[in-house]
Amino acid sequence: MQDPSAHDAHNGKLFIQTVGCQMNELDSELVVAALRKHGFQLTDDITSADTVLFNTCSVREHAEHKIYSALGRLKYSRRRRPQQVIGVMGCMAQKDQKLVFQKAPHVDIVVGTGQLSEIPGLIEDARANRGRHMAVSLARRDATRQTVAASFESYDPLRDPEMRPSAFQAYVRIMIGCDKFCTYCVVPMTRGPEQSRAPRDIVQEVHQLAAEGVKEVTLLGQTVNSYRHTEDGREYRLADLIAAFHDTPGLERIKFVTNYPRDMGDDLLQAVRDLPKLAHYLHVPAQSGCDEMLKRMKRGYTVADYREMMQRIHATVPDCAVSSDFIVGFCGETEEAHQKSMDLVREFRFKNSFIFKYSARTGTKADAIMLDDVPEETKRRRNVEMLELQTEISEEDNAERIGREYDVLVEGPSKTALKSADGEQGPLTQLTGRTRCDRIVVFDGNRRLTGSTARIRIDDCTATTLIGSIVTREFQHAPDGGLPILS
Ligand code: 5AD
Ligand code: SF4
Repeated sequence: MQDPSAHDAHNGKLFIQTVGCQMNELDSELVVAALRKHGFQLTDDITSADTVLFNTCSVREHAEHKIYSALGRLKYSRRRRPQQVIGVMGCMAQKDQKLVFQKAPHVDIVVGTGQLSEIPGLIEDARANRGRHMAVSLARRDATRQTVAASFESYDPLRDPEMRPSAFQAYVRIMIGCDKFCTYCVVPMTRGPEQSRAPRDIVQEVHQLAAEGVKEVTLLGQTVNSYRHTEDGREYRLADLIAAFHDTPGLERIKFVTNYPRDMGDDLLQAVRDLPKLAHYLHVPAQSGCDEMLKRMKRGYTVADYREMMQRIHATVPDCAVSSDFIVGFCGETEEAHQKSMDLVREFRFKNSFIFKYSARTGTKADAIMLDDVPEETKRRRNVEMLELQTEISEEDNAERIGREYDVLVEGPSKTALKSADGEQGPLTQLTGRTRCDRIVVFDGNRRLTGSTARIRIDDCTATTLIGSIVTREFQHAPDGGLPILS
């Protein structure tokens, strides 16, 4: 048998850059964990890395530009390090395939979202035999649904607890792919057909994570509330799946993203109401407030349907926070259509919204048959307008919380605290955490509170953050101190 330490020694330093969604963050975490097992050491210095990996996103053109620019910069450093292996993985690798080699000839490896388990072997191949190495899934048109689905493999190896970015938080993938085919979206092509993982595997993974000290799991799926899997003759929807692991000892909070409006069933809302570990927070992208646009986007619902869903959410879980995504400047979006989206933001007062300028994507229906006719300048103005409106709403919403108390799951030192001289500022540092409604709270406390729940009184706020202080035991027991837990 080969001596593992000898093997480790020559695998060298690994640099990885990740762009895009939480699905990509999880993929990177799992790939890094696998490569660490093969003796790679993580570095954040790209210039000294022996292996450089880019985990990519294709949802908007901007994300692709970012990666191609980074690849361009590597061309020169590669001349100084001829042994360096450069790999492109994820959505852009699946979408562009050989085009990656054409645009960036110094790339050695292109690996799609369904072949991540092959990365250690591909790096080894690239070292042994210079040249181009590619592993990608089948295109959706090129074979039957079943064959294409089989070529997109869910990559969820057993976790290495040391590899998680946070000791007590973890992502758990419950689905891969998407079958909704919204006309603007490249995800059904880059992530393949919608496939739900088996409840048994997910429950086992959550048990394992909780046993390792994880207190919060975030279930991931492109349309997470479309989850559907039949096991032992029983059909599991998302609410059934959550019920199957909800009581796991040690687990304290459960979130799930991203939801599809049409699949927001009453059973799921009742679970959010009745199961104490579930966050009172739903991310349900509306994308537009104009029926004509929603139809062109092929979202499968009208504004009236979305309103009906919001009414059900608030009737079942009155304090539930809802956030949304919007696309501005989609093909044919008139000023009137844009104002309808603005009205939707005013009507539903989302906790926050992610707002994107439409970006035409090769391979999508919109790109094939619609005209990207809203000028860039107009897209930019609409984006700013909507962002300003949402910021105003978020600020007012946060201001209403001043003076109230919340139970906050502490995530650790805030980014500003991390930037300041590490931990030298005495026993107290600025910590960050979230309420049950997913509102971000910062407050001063001992970093040992990380992973525990602290009672915080809100003193101030910005549009994105509540600013508070720890409620001491004495205060909590004072006759006027027992404010209700609101979030
Ligand atoms: N252009 C702009 N935004 C897009 N999104 C998806 N595809 C596009 C596109 N082609 C946005 C949607 C989605 C979020 C993840 O990205 O709002 O919910
Ligand atoms: Fe893209 Fe629509 Fe699927 Fe979301 S539901 S991933 S926007 S195709």
